[in-house]
Amino acid sequence: MSVHQNVKKVTTHTLQEMKNEGEKISMLTGYDFSMARIIDESGIDVILVGDSASNVMAGHETTLPITLDQMIYHASSVVRAVNRSLVVVDMPFGSYQGNSIEALSSAIRIMKESGGHAVKMEGGKEILESIQRILTAGIPVMGHLGLTPQSIYKFGTYVVRAKEEEEAANLIEDAKALEESGCFAIVLEKIPAALAKKVAETVSIPIIGIGAGGDVDGQVLVVHDMLGINNEFSPRFLRKYNNLHDHMKTAFESYIKDVRSGDFPNESEQY
Ligand code: KIV
Repeated sequence: MSVHQNVKKVTTHTLQEMKNEGEKISMLTGYDFSMARIIDESGIDVILVGDSASNVMAGHETTLPITLDQMIYHASSVVRAVNRSLVVVDMPFGSYQGNSIEALSSAIRIMKESGGHAVKMEGGKEILESIQRILTAGIPVMGHLGLTPQSIYKFGTYVVRAKEEEEAANLIEDAKALEESGCFAIVLEKIPAALAKKVAETVSIPIIGIGAGGDVDGQVLVVHDMLGINNEFSPRFLRKYNNLHDHMKTAFESYIKDVRSGDFPNESEQY
């Protein structure tokens, strides 16, 4: 067992030590108390309160509609469940792109009102001023490069990013800028594995991949996807660890059948 599996509370420093010692970092999304409790009990290192809540919890097509208040609601539910994991909270679209003062006040609201431990922001050089202001206030920041879903209308599709040399070179420059500014880790989403490996070797902070291959410092998946709750989403990078969609549907169908037949509740299930 690796040393850091035993730490009582994971911090940003733990993650850096894990990278330094070649121990892989595990991260999953979480949005509510009950699920976060199970994820934390399993020994995950980081729970990301992702703005993917907009998709998987609220049913929106993109991550753009979720609000700062809604993110704070999800994050505070997760924080109440967690004993060990580091809780990172996504700053939602519109809460930091305007200017650095607005970005700082959004980050402060997240930290104060949810009790989260760090924030995550999508983007590179274009948001550096905001990142620096937030870091100056003592709030740890995780970066997010590659496919950044808040910019989906700029990209036009969810295909793999940075396949071309120019975009790949820009991404490496952005990763260096995020490291220099003081970000404690970076998520790389849906980029070629060789490029992700290069970034993980170039910067000294942890690189957490999703659809970015195995040669990075850790992995993140959306919990509903890896549990197979959402059976309409099966990208190449996703490994499904369960088929909860079918298991849950079977349970619901059995319940309905038992209610309709009068089999539930039986004598031992009543007072
Ligand atoms: O919102 C989210 O779930 C994310 C992960 C895909 C990294 O940002």
